[in-house]
Amino acid sequence: MINILVTAKDGQLGHCFQDLASKHQNLQFVFKNSSELDITNKDHIEAVFNTQAFDYCINCAAYTAVDKAEEAVELANKVNHLGAQNIAEACEKFGVTLIHISTDFVFDGEAHSPYLESASTNPLGVYGKTKLDGEKAIAKTLEQHFIIRTSWLYSEYKNNFLKTMLRLASQRDEIGVVGDQIGSPTYAKDLAEVVLQIIEQNDTNFGTYHYSNQGEVSWYDFANEIFKIAQSQIKLNKIETSDYPTPAKRPMYSVLNTSKIEKTLNIKIPAWEKSLLIAYSNLEE
Ligand SMILES: NC(=O)c1ccc[n+]([C@@H]2O[C@H](COP(=O)([O-])OP(=O)(O)OC[C@H]3O[C@@H](n4cnc5c(N)ncnc54)[C@H](OP(=O)(O)O)[C@@H]3O)[C@@H](O)[C@H]2O)c1
Repeated sequence: MINILVTAKDGQLGHCFQDLASKHQNLQFVFKNSSELDITNKDHIEAVFNTQAFDYCINCAAYTAVDKAEEAVELANKVNHLGAQNIAEACEKFGVTLIHISTDFVFDGEAHSPYLESASTNPLGVYGKTKLDGEKAIAKTLEQHFIIRTSWLYSEYKNNFLKTMLRLASQRDEIGVVGDQIGSPTYAKDLAEVVLQIIEQNDTNFGTYHYSNQGEVSWYDFANEIFKIAQSQIKLNKIETSDYPTPAKRPMYSVLNTSKIEKTLNIKIPAWEKSLLIAYSNLEE
């Protein structure tokens, strides 16, 4: 049996791991929420790691409020940077392999082709900077780690773009969505499956990987597909980033090159439209 500790079980990704747990009988999970395991609290971490021997820790905990982070700099740093470091230190001490989730927001979006893992980072805001500092702290602390950068996560859980668009479709007749930011939507359950595959394959090719669903789209294209699937009559207008100012600057292009993880795990990643259909039908259930 492989023993796995999952942090932030009440987050979007944490929920996806809980959904998949019963499909993986060879994996034994311990799920903790942010009050049971606060990653900024070293005593909490020590206490949880002392309860049993874990083989893996999947860290889903993060400060994810991208715009609020511009003000809440200290808190974002405490969770995304120092919290990640705390978890890495515990993994090092207890001989646990860490699988940590990071973000496309470590890049500045100036590229014109998908970002490789080796591409230069240059976060535009506090969220991306603190996530990058977390990555660096993990890499410095612990050899046995996987850092998986992903993008535009959505699922049937918590707040995300899919659920926001469906809510707006039921409330409004017309909506404007940004058409000049390009990225790859990623179904959080696909990401969770890949993480479990790394564990089941006992992969030891530690390091940084990119994972997103296949295809590049704008938020407008993503919204358009959501409304098509939902058979919504809402009028969708394409707007520009400059028409929708936000406290945090976002990368204009943040498509991730996923060939490293595809080759390492010998997987084929689903197209974003296909995964969106599955997520939508799971939402309907
Ligand atoms: N969502 C996206 O579009 C996206 C894109 C790229 C990468 N990512 C990354 O993917 C990962 C999962 O994101 P998600 O979408 O699942 O985010 P989420 O739904 O916002 O979940 C984040 C979770 O972290 C928990 N948390 C916050 N501070 C904590 C602390 N000090 N100790 C323990 N837990 C804490 C939160 O708990 P409370 O609710 O109790 O505060 C929440 O359950 C994150 O690393 C994120 O950076 C997300």
